[in-house]
Amino acid sequence: MKKRWKLLTLLASSLIALTGCAGFGGIDLDSVGEEDTVSYFKVALNQTESHPSFIALEAFAEELYEKTDGRYVVEVFPNEQLGSQQEVLQMVKSGAIEMAIVSGTQLENVNVDFRVLNMPTTFSSIAHQIDVLQQPEIVGDLFASLEESENITVLGGYTQGERHIYSTFGPVTTPDDLNGKKIRVQESDMHIRMIELMGGSATPLSYGEVYSALQAGVLDGAENNIVSYLTARHFEVAPYLSYTTHLVGLDYMIMRHDLLQAMPEADRELLYEAWYDSMDHHTELWLEETEAAKAETEAGGATYHEVDNEAFNEALQPIVDQYVVTDYQKSLFEAIRSADTGEGSTN
Ligand code: GCU
Repeated sequence: MKKRWKLLTLLASSLIALTGCAGFGGIDLDSVGEEDTVSYFKVALNQTESHPSFIALEAFAEELYEKTDGRYVVEVFPNEQLGSQQEVLQMVKSGAIEMAIVSGTQLENVNVDFRVLNMPTTFSSIAHQIDVLQQPEIVGDLFASLEESENITVLGGYTQGERHIYSTFGPVTTPDDLNGKKIRVQESDMHIRMIELMGGSATPLSYGEVYSALQAGVLDGAENNIVSYLTARHFEVAPYLSYTTHLVGLDYMIMRHDLLQAMPEADRELLYEAWYDSMDHHTELWLEETEAAKAETEAGGATYHEVDNEAFNEALQPIVDQYVVTDYQKSLFEAIRSADTGEGSTN
């Protein structure tokens, strides 16, 4: 994928004009005009510019650019500018864009084995999750499983942290409090079941539509991490957050497989290096950003509530038997559970 630099600059400036803002990893476009050929990768993201995923992707872009002496320019498009996660997954597959951050729930709709990593009870903490992500003997086959069928390679992931229920109507203490309440979930059959087991009635919806649905009263609540609770401004319309901690979620960086294969091996290694550094950077940012987001949402009127975690954990137990079914899924689940050292566990 090589383009002449002038073309790239033209394209980049028209995109900036079109979208108003896109991240170039702090790269000064004027300073790179001497290159004859440059590879240009677009990354789709559904978060705002203040979200840790945007910041870590910008750092990835910058590091790759520097490591390759400007031969690779990665442009990050935040705020669903290129489409919802469901749409951008198709765009990577078709080659319309090169990379995207998508939630694990999107990948389970392509290969159900990804469910194992999107399930309550799989990861007991962020530390456990990040540790597993760094073990190719556990996740390597899964990450390569979409290469032939979808032309997608999973490079790795960013944590979504601990997810909790928040509502428009008040604190939730036990599953009974969710009775008859419409709670938004990501587009996943398993997550629909998850909310049903937790006592509520699930409404799948794409991320960008949640704020207005909460505001309009179409939804009574949603579930997400505290960082997104702030950056997507959901706290303004659903100010009661209850610490259900029902899930440690995971986002994935996906990339066109043919493109990755076509890169010279040395460049591919540099890309992986920059990506792994960005994963570390993201994890470092995550905990401090979660604390800061809590403080900021509280200052904006949100309140935080303890729940009966035992009651929710017990309600969620059947999910494993329902969704961990094949031999491969069972061995993946077991390998992940056995890798849990208990360090950093919060629930
Ligand atoms: C988190 C996650 C996103 C996901 C969103 C959602 O913010 O990082 O990838 O889209 O949750 O609930 O849809």
